[in-house]
Amino acid sequence: MNIPCGQSFFNYGSGWLNGSLCAIEPTINITPLIIMRSKIAGIGHYVPERVVTNDELSRFMDTSDEWIQERTGIKERHYGKKHEETTTSMAAIAARIACERAGIQPEDIDFIIFATLSPDYYFPGCGVLLQRELGITHKEAGALDIRNQCSGFLYALSIADQFIKTGMYKNILVVGSEMHSMGLDFTTRGRNVTVIFGDGAGAAIIQPTDNPNQGILTTKLHSDGTYAEKLSFINPGSHGGYHSRHTGEEVDYGYPPKDTYGEIFMTQHMMDNGMQYPNMEGQFVFKMAVQKFPEVIMEALKEAGLQPSDINMLIPHQANLRISQFVQKTLRLSDDQVWNNIQKYGNTTAASVPIALCEAWEAGKVKEGDLVCLAAFGSGFTWGSALIRW
Ligand SMILES: CC(C)(COP(=O)(O)OP(=O)(O)OC[C@H]1O[C@@H](n2cnc3c(N)ncnc32)[C@H](O)[C@@H]1OP(=O)(O)O)[C@@H](O)C(=O)NCCC(=O)NCCS
Repeated sequence: MNIPCGQSFFNYGSGWLNGSLCAIEPTINITPLIIMRSKIAGIGHYVPERVVTNDELSRFMDTSDEWIQERTGIKERHYGKKHEETTTSMAAIAARIACERAGIQPEDIDFIIFATLSPDYYFPGCGVLLQRELGITHKEAGALDIRNQCSGFLYALSIADQFIKTGMYKNILVVGSEMHSMGLDFTTRGRNVTVIFGDGAGAAIIQPTDNPNQGILTTKLHSDGTYAEKLSFINPGSHGGYHSRHTGEEVDYGYPPKDTYGEIFMTQHMMDNGMQYPNMEGQFVFKMAVQKFPEVIMEALKEAGLQPSDINMLIPHQANLRISQFVQKTLRLSDDQVWNNIQKYGNTTAASVPIALCEAWEAGKVKEGDLVCLAAFGSGFTWGSALIRW
């Protein structure tokens, strides 16, 4: 395209088109800028075979089907096979399905973004383990691990979106996978947390699209570390009690004397006292969630010039059915506009959004041209949303 000197077609900031170059060249050749968007080209999910009902849990701890269903909506969840399945192995199954649906081979993946709070190893992260599991190490593609708990998939998707839009990658594998069942407290002490969580994985292939009527319209990400410990899994860790200056809570972790090395990450005292499990102040988390979900959804809608009524399908992170119902009511959405599956899977944290999105798509509830809204809130606190024109 030839444009006359001085009439800058794009806003180049520095304005160099008007500078000395123009004095030499009266016109300049510029390829028109194509606004590239990211799209979800394929999606897959996997949940382990083993179904664990509320009644089964009540054999290990003082709880009941009635209590769990009334407070959370959960009827059952799935648990992986010990020593046979892991966060990575489940992710690989979901990833292969996503690749097939996107019409690509795992070898075509340029970059992996893996969100989980229940990694196979403390390090290295699951990204490289997944790369190996998919048999694509020879490509030496980058792998990034995301530690944003329930909003991990939203963060991963947003990062993928930026990499696609800049043209850096063409096929990004975004995964959320969790194997909670290996790290929960199955005594009455842990019942407030344990009954909520389940295992599973979801994956998506993110690709560029030049179709102006398709793709990720916007993503919004937020965090507030003020209440980091309200929903946390702090041991093993290097904290050494440091953060009590913020929480005001001095806890005896059984650390060795200060002038010795080692034994900070995990002490026998922690193991003996069940300090190696997740903690949650349920009511506090609930109150924050019902505030932040609608807020971040409205923020995305406002930027896109849309209304809640424009949403064809809201996929909220499956934290608690009561939270999703509260969000639905606040945004005045009908039952057809919201996908809930926590009844079957519990809260699968980073995996919950891609599993729910995949299920909704498989059920024919997410169709071409639909406006899909993803939203999540969780530990950190971290939260986010994404608006996608399918
Ligand atoms: C966890 C949650 C279901 C608990 O429900 P709640 O109504 O807030 O219940 P509370 O924590 O106030 O506990 C009420 C009572 O039930 C008991 N209780 C907790 N878990 C129980 C269980 N699984 N079975 C039976 N009783 C249980 C508590 O010990 C407490 O007993 P007490 O009154 O004798 O002390 C709820 O707070 C919640 O869902 N919060 C949000 C959690 C969440 O979304 N987390 C993920 C964020 S991404």
